[in-house]
Amino acid sequence: MNVLLGAVRRAVDRNPAAAHAALDRAQDAAEQALSELRAVARGILPPVLADRGLAGALAGLASSCGVPCEMTVDVPGRCAASVEATAYFVVAEGLSNVTKHSGAASAVVEVSRKDDRLLLRIADDGRGGADERRGSGLTGIRRRIEAYDGRFTLDSPAGGPTTMRVGLPCGS
Ligand SMILES: Nc1ncnc2c1ncn2[C@@H]1O[C@H](COP(=O)(O)OP(=O)(O)OP(=O)(O)O)[C@@H](O)[C@H]1O
Ligand SMILES: [Mg+2]
Repeated sequence: MNVLLGAVRRAVDRNPAAAHAALDRAQDAAEQALSELRAVARGILPPVLADRGLAGALAGLASSCGVPCEMTVDVPGRCAASVEATAYFVVAEGLSNVTKHSGAASAVVEVSRKDDRLLLRIADDGRGGADERRGSGLTGIRRRIEAYDGRFTLDSPAGGPTTMRVGLPCGS
C-alpha cells in the first residue's frame, strides 16, 4: 500500500489517470490486507481462554461492556477450543455492538449447554434495528458459526429490543 500511495503522490500532478489507477490498486490492497488481518485475528485462540476458561474469559468481556451487563455461564466441562473461541468472539462482537450502537441501559448474556450444543443469548434493551448488511461484524459472526454447523439468529426490530441467539455443536 505504501508503495502504491507513493506512486499516487508522484503521479497526481503530472498524470492524473495513472494516479487514479494506482489509487484503485491501493484501495484493493487495503481491502485485501483487512480481510487477511480479520482471518488471522479469527484464527488466534485468545490466551485468556486458556488461562481463565470460557466463563472467566467471558466475565472479562462483560466487565468491559459500555453498559451494565448481567452474565450467566452454566457450561459443565469444556468444549473444543475452536468452539470456545467462537463463543468468545461472538460475545465480544455482540457486546461491542451493544456499546457502539444500541443506546441500551443494560445487556444480558446467557451461556448454557444443552446436550452437545453450546447455546448463547446476547440481548440488550436498546433501540434495535441491527442489520447484518450494514457492517462486517455480524456477517463475520454468521459465517464463522455456519462454518461450525451452528445456528445464528438475530431479532432486532426498530425500537428494540435486540436479541442474538447462537447454537454451536460443542465438538469433541
Ligand atoms: N445491538 C445493536 N443495537 C442496535 N443496532 C445495532 C446493534 N448491533 C448492530 N447494530 C446495527 O447493525 C449494523 C451492523 O452491525 P455490524 O456489527 O455488522 O457492523 P458494525 O458494528 O457497524 O461494524 P463492525 O464491522 O466493526 O462490526 C451496525 O452498524 C448498527 O447500525
Ligand atoms: Mg459490529
